[in-house]
Amino acid sequence: MNLPFFSSDDLVVGIDIGSHAIKICQLKRTDKAYAVVNLGSATLPEDAVDDGTLNDPELVGKTIKELLKNLKIKKKKVGFSISGYSVIVKKVNLAVMSEEELEEHIQTEAEQYIPFDIDDVYLDFQDLKTNKGDSERTDVMLVAAKKEIVDDYLEMLEGLNLQPVIVDVDGFALENTYEYNYPKDENVALVDIGASKMNINIISNGISVVARDIVVGSRQLTEQIQAAFDLEFAEAEALKLGHIPAEEKQEEIADIFSSTCTQWVLEIKKAIDLYQANHPDAPLTRLVLSGGGSKVSGLVDYLASETELAVELFNPFNNMTVNSKKIDPDYLNSIGPEMAIATGIAIRPSVI
Ligand SMILES: Nc1ncnc2c1ncn2[C@@H]1O[C@H](COP(=O)(O)OP(=O)(O)OP(=O)(O)O)[C@@H](O)[C@H]1O
Ligand SMILES: [Mg+2]
Repeated sequence: MNLPFFSSDDLVVGIDIGSHAIKICQLKRTDKAYAVVNLGSATLPEDAVDDGTLNDPELVGKTIKELLKNLKIKKKKVGFSISGYSVIVKKVNLAVMSEEELEEHIQTEAEQYIPFDIDDVYLDFQDLKTNKGDSERTDVMLVAAKKEIVDDYLEMLEGLNLQPVIVDVDGFALENTYEYNYPKDENVALVDIGASKMNINIISNGISVVARDIVVGSRQLTEQIQAAFDLEFAEAEALKLGHIPAEEKQEEIADIFSSTCTQWVLEIKKAIDLYQANHPDAPLTRLVLSGGGSKVSGLVDYLASETELAVELFNPFNNMTVNSKKIDPDYLNSIGPEMAIATGIAIRPSVI
């Protein structure tokens, strides 16, 4: 694979700030591929981050600082990504125009596409250049992110003496790392199941055609176990992960898993059905699952039987080189699905 020439200095350290854990990934470019330099994760207390909002920026900052220190990362340029109610990604179909015209059009017309006051958001867009033949219209991806939310992230990271130079969106970061690591010519559903949200991104002919965030995730399982047995959150989480034996609770826990996973799978199927109905000529071939929730045992097989697609866990290091003396391959393998978004941020060259 050919990469444009950049020194490793051009890459940012990717920081994925989830509601359950911070994930950090540092890559470098070598002649032929990206190499994994450093990576790790640290869990956050229950309410520190919620729906993409920093409820406790000080605590989140402290966790990031400690993780960077443990990983011995000195680099200051970082990227992070946003998700949740504060960011809207929308595809609009517009007349073909120049980049400058498009910029102006979006500044003046954005309010009809997004439900926020234009003065309250940062706007970005990308012409997907879908105009084929003599078509005079093209799809444009519009992103609007609430300033107050983004500014909280910037302020928190700057407070740690870091330079946040890239603001990504979870779904785009996922797409980015998928495109680098997997064949480009497939129509695929990328599904990230985190602690408190599920992001579904369907890519067809290299373009994201369905993108949605749904408020479900693996924390649901913990909360249901907590309620069923009247436990502390941490104990319920340990039971969920099998870190403490379930014993007589086994059957009830299995029921909780099965009803919640059924709900997740229904949501995924809804998105796939919508896609198939609109794109009958470009059937999906694969479903790639990421996020900690993807590791729920049996989920891959269950999804495969329900969707009739080839389902696999995301390996964001598929096309990357790794020094196995420095990073334990078993650790890399087990943390891969959670690292997909951080990796996607870390392959962005810093632009400023
Ligand atoms: N083997 C497993 N089975 C079930 N759940 C798991 C497993 N391993 C991790 N998880 C869960 O995955 C979640 C963490 O995943 P991840 O790091 O992707 O979430 P996050 O990015 O912090 O959350 P979000 O993106 O929703 O804000 C936690 O709820 C954790 O309990
Ligand atoms: Mg996440």
